[in-house]
Amino acid sequence: MLALERDSATASHWQPDRYDKVFSEVSPRRVALLIEAEGTGGEVGVQGFLVARSVAGEWEIENIVVGEGSRRRGWGRCLLGEFIGMIRAEGGETVFLEVRESNFAARAFYQDSHFVESGRRKGYYSHPEEDAVVYRLSVA
Ligand SMILES: CC(C)(COP(=O)(O)OP(=O)(O)OC[C@H]1O[C@@H](n2cnc3c(N)ncnc32)[C@H](O)[C@@H]1OP(=O)(O)O)[C@@H](O)C(=O)NCCC(=O)NCCS
Repeated sequence: MLALERDSATASHWQPDRYDKVFSEVSPRRVALLIEAEGTGGEVGVQGFLVARSVAGEWEIENIVVGEGSRRRGWGRCLLGEFIGMIRAEGGETVFLEVRESNFAARAFYQDSHFVESGRRKGYYSHPEEDAVVYRLSVA
């Protein structure tokens, strides 16, 4: 997961201990979904992942990454579809996320999955400073 994230400039970049917490912390409730498949070089490994947490009754997608060589094959849509199916089955109602304003690929991806722009967070990101666009999806 770390290797994929490091190779992806627009992914959220976390310290390794934050990934450890994904698998060890009991609260908040989290979901991590991974796609393990053959990569472009023929090697089998993690080609994509999604991490989300439940915050105050809503689900937040914290990170979603598909390896650069494996994009536009429907794997992102597959991760998102699986995640939405899971949370809907347990009564989840809303998913939200923040994305850099300039991350047009991810914004097109979320819009394709029917997320709706629901707000902006001024100067939310640093290095470089940039606004966050907030997207929401009702899954109920
Ligand atoms: C966003 C991301 C996860 C999408 O994964 P993916 O596997 O390439 O997406 P999919 O193949 O499932 O695409 C589904 C649809 O989203 C839209 N889409 C995805 N990438 C797009 C792009 N670069 N430009 C325009 N539309 C895009 C398209 O409508 C696409 O359907 P189509 O291929 O039939 O036209 C991937 O681009 C990625 O890992 N980006 C880097 C990390 C990142 O920025 N994550 C988001 C942090 S908030």
